[in-house]
Amino acid sequence: MPPQSTVGLTMADIYSPEYTVDPYPLFHRIRDVSPVFWDQRMGVDGAWMVTGYEAALAVFRNPKLSALRPQWNPNGPDALVRDEEFAGQLRALHSMMFTADPPAHTRLRRIARKPFVPAAVARMRGEIEAAAHELLDAVLPSGRMDYMEDFAMALPSTTMCRVLGIPVADRGLVWRRILSWGLVVDGGPLSKENPEYHLGKVGKYMDYFREQLGKRRVQRTDDLLQSLVDSWDEGEFISEEELLGNLMFLLTAGQVTTGHQIGNSTLALLAHPDVLATLRADPTRVPDATPELMRYDCSVQLTKRRAVEHMELAGQRIEQGQELFVWMGAANRDPEPFPDPDRLDPDRPKVQNLALGNGIHYCAGGQLGQLLNEVAVTVFAERVRNPRVDPAEVVRKPVPTFRGAHSIPMTFD
Ligand code: HEM
Repeated sequence: MPPQSTVGLTMADIYSPEYTVDPYPLFHRIRDVSPVFWDQRMGVDGAWMVTGYEAALAVFRNPKLSALRPQWNPNGPDALVRDEEFAGQLRALHSMMFTADPPAHTRLRRIARKPFVPAAVARMRGEIEAAAHELLDAVLPSGRMDYMEDFAMALPSTTMCRVLGIPVADRGLVWRRILSWGLVVDGGPLSKENPEYHLGKVGKYMDYFREQLGKRRVQRTDDLLQSLVDSWDEGEFISEEELLGNLMFLLTAGQVTTGHQIGNSTLALLAHPDVLATLRADPTRVPDATPELMRYDCSVQLTKRRAVEHMELAGQRIEQGQELFVWMGAANRDPEPFPDPDRLDPDRPKVQNLALGNGIHYCAGGQLGQLLNEVAVTVFAERVRNPRVDPAEVVRKPVPTFRGAHSIPMTFD
């Protein structure tokens, strides 16, 4: 096992309140030691922390690194829950495309293509703008809102309900179950506290979608759920659990990530009033500023891979079977491609950031996520006058994988 480079320095500190608020100083300290850093306290029995941009890119593009992980993790939900009652949930969790390798990944990825082709996403702009205005109409007269609950999370979840073809009225119900799904997938301390409870919720989530899919067999609809039923009939899925696992993953991947990103982007703008003023004065600049907002504080900070065979990475020897934690949040603040990385600069030269990943698992709904972020920022800048947030009142989620706020109390004129 490689030696610990710096005694006491560990990514495990990411769970502390200090780094929950601002993880970037920790990322810089670890990257300064090595962009590929062995951390004995992470993973099952130590893992590589990838914090450099070039190294992260190399990981995403290397076919010798597998995305297949829950099955190999002795601390994952399988090890914690032996009860047969949860076998279906676990099989669904294991079938998600983001933890699949080719050829299964190639097959599963096809099902997510149709609804997210650029033309289909562009057609959704008008509807997303209308939904954003509607959400603000409901709260603006009161002079206060919880930005996360009333706007940032509500916008993508309303949109995802429309994409899937489920009633918007079911948004709250679906949402509460997604939280359990996210906690189980994250595999962090929160899911270990009470895995049966969360897996029970995942089971209810699966029942809800079984019912929704059943309705499409009685009467056809023009939505994502119908296209999944059709794919199933055409033999694209090997089991109902595989279909349900990927459906739930799509919904989670589309809502939590985007809602968090809208919150992170807005907090960044509030901390940089000059940039907010520029975008307010000229909203046509928002599309160009969006990738920089996502680089600056991305909502998916971490993903994992495992070495299928020995390999070299940034001068380190990675042994077969070892786990790599790719910290996109750290790579996006690497000063090498992003000079003065802690500065929000919409005019910075364009270098593709890793907020949406890279390689074969590059975010399937990235264009929709960016559009939602763009519309949210534009409508917020246009309509919310003199917004005020006390940073001490922002409640952040202590989950390092999905960086986002639980609550952002906001007042305005
Ligand atoms: C701003 C919002 C979003 C962010 C920051 C984000 C981030 C990411 C990242 C980093 C990955 C790669 C994970 C890896 O390589 O292990 C990913 C994958 C994925 N995302 Fe997103 N995402 C966003 C929005 C969405 C939306 C709106 C959808 C769908 C409606 C979506 C669906 C997916 C899917 C299906 C994958 C898996 C792709 C694969 O494994 O091939 N995402 N996302």
